[in-house]
Amino acid sequence: MLDSDRPEGFEWLASEPDFNPAIHLALEMPDVIESLTDFGYNAEQIASCPSDFAVTSVFRVLSDEGAACLLDVCHQLEAFTTSNARIERNVRGGAYRSRFLRDLCLSQDVTAFMSDISGVALAPHSIPHQLGHLNYNPKQVGKNVDKWHVDTLIYDYVMFVTDPKSVQGGAFQYYRGTKEEVAALKEAGHPLPADKIVSPDMPGPGYAVMQQGNMVVHQAKGLDAPGERITMVNGYVTQDARLRDYSRYDQLCLVDPAHIVTAEYARHEAHRADQLIHQTGFQADKTAYIAALREAAARLEAAANIIDQSDKAVIEHFGDE
Ligand SMILES: [Fe+2]
Repeated sequence: MLDSDRPEGFEWLASEPDFNPAIHLALEMPDVIESLTDFGYNAEQIASCPSDFAVTSVFRVLSDEGAACLLDVCHQLEAFTTSNARIERNVRGGAYRSRFLRDLCLSQDVTAFMSDISGVALAPHSIPHQLGHLNYNPKQVGKNVDKWHVDTLIYDYVMFVTDPKSVQGGAFQYYRGTKEEVAALKEAGHPLPADKIVSPDMPGPGYAVMQQGNMVVHQAKGLDAPGERITMVNGYVTQDARLRDYSRYDQLCLVDPAHIVTAEYARHEAHRADQLIHQTGFQADKTAYIAALREAAARLEAAANIIDQSDKAVIEHFGDE
């Protein structure tokens, strides 16, 4: 994400604060961390994930000043909202337009903090459009901000930029069960049982929950009265490239410009392949390097095929209710 290495058409905001972790962060560890076991996932499913971590209780990320700066940045970025089949108004690629947003999303302090929470060494997502995703409430009162879904990335935090106490409705919600359970309920035409829907009480701007986004089904409710609701979602990848990655080229192509998705996805896969080799280490014998090189080659070949063959996707979600 060098200043000189950005897609065409993205300009830096003309005026914004410099991100300063000493001033803008107010990281506080969450009191409660729920596990995938608590959600009903079985041992086999959990073994395929980097950790048993599911979701946190609400915790603080930004200071009052940090939240005010991010709100100012988000107001400036609102001119760049786009729509997709799930979300009426979102800004993606904001890290190419705002240095403040970019530096917050790449912050080493925040990344270390999120690694501590999840129990897995993390890095900011290597697909830049998965950094600092911004949701803005639809203009129509009552319309959901985002439908029930799981993320096409592994770990993320969802943070309120606006004050959730200043509006009616607009809750972030997650389902305290498995995604297979949600799929079966939707298939049968049943609503999700209310007693398993959790609406974390967000006390103010700059507060968040972190989740294993591909395993926790979640949605964002619409406002019940006119108002402003903006949230930021920042994505992470595991530092260990041997662990599973959930990136979906086909899904990303439905929400972001295809030529940018292609470049970002190709770079992401190349980066992970490079990591596989580096993680083999200086002490490994040649057998380990032969295996790592073959795995890297297979992954790169698979990525090329995915890019080559992806053309008929639809956005996956579980609907509104
Ligand atoms: Fe999500």
